[in-house]
Amino acid sequence: MDKIFITRILPDVQLINNLKEHFEVEVWEKSSPPNTEELLMKSKDCWGILTMLTEKIDNDFIIKNQKLKIIANMAAGFDNIDIETAKQQNIMVTNTPDVLTESTAELTFALLLLMAKRLPEANQAIRNNQWGPWNPNWMLGKDLKNANLGIIGPGKIGNAVAKIAKSFSMKINYYGRDPKIDFPGNYMQLEKLLVTSDYISIHLSLNNETNNFLNAKHFKKMKQDAILINTSRGKIINQDDLLQAIQSNEIGGAALDVTDPEPIDSSSPLLQMQNIFVSPHLGSATKATRYKMAKIAIDNLISYKIKNYCPNAVI
Ligand code: GLV
Ligand code: GLV
Repeated sequence: MDKIFITRILPDVQLINNLKEHFEVEVWEKSSPPNTEELLMKSKDCWGILTMLTEKIDNDFIIKNQKLKIIANMAAGFDNIDIETAKQQNIMVTNTPDVLTESTAELTFALLLLMAKRLPEANQAIRNNQWGPWNPNWMLGKDLKNANLGIIGPGKIGNAVAKIAKSFSMKINYYGRDPKIDFPGNYMQLEKLLVTSDYISIHLSLNNETNNFLNAKHFKKMKQDAILINTSRGKIINQDDLLQAIQSNEIGGAALDVTDPEPIDSSSPLLQMQNIFVSPHLGSATKATRYKMAKIAIDNLISYKIKNYCPNAVI
């Protein structure tokens, strides 16, 4: 029987049982991911692997795994995989798009609301014994109604965020490589979007073009009270530049569900800033969504085995 290695315990054991009807399956049962050597050792002789976004599937790994036929990544993003090398080696790569769109859009909006109403700061103030008598001038946030939301990256998640924003009567503009026919908002050049937005939310996938996409020169253009949200990938923002922009009050605040690196060091100066909120990559972190992601990854493996076809091939 062909072998499959799965790099983490999946949300439902029945999914593994389905897979066992077709493969010999080994699951990495530790809560932390296998390191480079462990991953290499476990994947040796495997027909397929089921990976998380934490597994770095680079050129070296692919070249050393001559038997590998498929990498089923349990994520929408696949920036952890060297797609070019996989292609050259004729290895199928699949992802789990669509099922996490709403969860990620909801998390994005949760962050937007938190920052608009300054909830992390306000909560911290209570813990610091700074909640005095009701004060008409204390902890004033921003409204959403009629505010400009700029969405960078009008893919499925960006689209879902725009729909939620519409129900809050926000004005929605977006920037992407091309205007989209079905996007619920107005297309804008990046420069104009940066200048006019009260809130900016990033929904790009990470690749060579988007690495370090937003940096010092962009922060300088933003409104002084602009709030930046990132639920895509940490590397899309230049974090040092962001820290600098926050420290010098060039922008109002930032909420990051993704950082570079992940996990962020608990001593990072970003975490010292009152107006930066960081969550630990929770975009798809709901029970229902993680189940669906795992099921799609498993189904991709089975489908490739039985039909030589994958519904979610990325190359
Ligand atoms: C999560 O970030 C994913 O790409 O699925
Ligand atoms: C991914 O699903 C996206 O938003 O493009």
